[in-house]
Amino acid sequence: MFLRDLWYFGALSSELKPGQHLHRELLGQPILFGRDHQGRAYALKDICPHRGILLSEGEVQNHDGETQVECPYHGWRFRTDGSCAAIPSLTGDQAEAMDLSKIKTRAFPVHEDQGLIWIYCAEGDDAEPVIDPPVLDLPEGAQPRMIVRDIFNCHVDHAVIGLMDPAHIPYIHRQWWWRTAKSVKEKEKEFGPVERGFSMLPHTPSSNSFLYKFLGKDRSTEIRFQLPGLRTEYVKADGKHFTGFTAVTPTNENSTAITIVVYWNHPLLNIVPKGLLRKGIETFVGQDRDAVNAQQVGLAYDPKLMLIHDSDVQAKWYFALKRAWTKHRESGETFKNPVKPATLRWRS
Ligand code: FES
Ligand SMILES: [Fe+2]
Repeated sequence: MFLRDLWYFGALSSELKPGQHLHRELLGQPILFGRDHQGRAYALKDICPHRGILLSEGEVQNHDGETQVECPYHGWRFRTDGSCAAIPSLTGDQAEAMDLSKIKTRAFPVHEDQGLIWIYCAEGDDAEPVIDPPVLDLPEGAQPRMIVRDIFNCHVDHAVIGLMDPAHIPYIHRQWWWRTAKSVKEKEKEFGPVERGFSMLPHTPSSNSFLYKFLGKDRSTEIRFQLPGLRTEYVKADGKHFTGFTAVTPTNENSTAITIVVYWNHPLLNIVPKGLLRKGIETFVGQDRDAVNAQQVGLAYDPKLMLIHDSDVQAKWYFALKRAWTKHRESGETFKNPVKPATLRWRS
C-alpha cells in the first residue's frame, strides 16, 4: 500500500517544544512525535500496548532527567525508546516477577535537520535505516521562513502526480499573476536521474511566469522529485535562493498531507509582504487540492486511466521508481533507478 524502508517527512521542528508531544497519523498508523527534556526529537507508535489508548493523550514527565510518556488510562510509563519504565498498579512482588523490558511500543528512528523532522518507516518493527535521511540543498543553517499545509482527500499517488503534472497548470492555475490562457506555449525541459528520483535539470525559468521575472538576472530553476513523495523546487537568482520543499505524506489510504516549507535568502522575498506570498502559495495548493478532490468523484467508479507522452512521463517515472524500490526491498538486489536522461516536450 505505501512504500517502506524510506524516510518520511513527519513534523516541523517548530511544532515540538521540549517536554511536549503531538499525535499524527502517518501511513495509516498513529504516531506520537515528541521532544524530550534534552531537546531530542523522538517518535513512538501512539498506542499503549496495555489496552490501546493513544499514548499522546497522556502526559510527558521528567523522571530524573529521563523523559517518559505516561499513559492516561492506567499510568504505565514509556521511555522515548518505546520501552516500558513503570506499571504503577503492580505490588512490590508482582513488579519483581514481571519483566518490564518485554513490554514496549514501537520506536521509530527520527532525524531532525533544516527545521524538518524525518521519520524512518521500516517494513520490520525494529529495522535500522538502510538509507540516509534526506538533506535539502540549502545554505548552512537555513531554517523555514514560511509553512503552508493542506490535506488532499486522495491516495498519495494522485497527490504526487497531481502536483508534478505540467499539463494542468494552464487550467487549474489560471491566474493573472502566474499564467493566463494566452501564455501557453511549447516547453522543452531536460531531465535526469537523481538519488531515488529525477530532476528537471537547472534551467532558466519560463518567462511566462510573471513572478519569476522579478527575481533577478541569472535565474535558474531546478525541480527535484524523490521517493517517497518529496518535491523540491530550487530557484536561484543573482547568487541568492528561494527554495520550496513540498512533502507529500500519506495520512492513510484516502488522505494525504501536503506540507510546503519555504526557505529563502533572496532579499526581494523580504520586501514581498509575507501575507501576500502565503496567500499566493495557499491559492496554488488549494487549486491542486480542489482538482484532486473533484477527481475522486470520478475515480470512485474505478475507471481505466491513461498516462500520455510527454506530459505524463514524470508520472510514469514515479510509478517506475515505486516498482523499482519495492523490488529492491523485496529481492535484496541493488536499487536501479529506472529514469534515464531525457528531453520532454509539452504545451503549458
Ligand atoms: S491502556 Fe495504557 S496503561 Fe492501560
Ligand atoms: Fe498544480
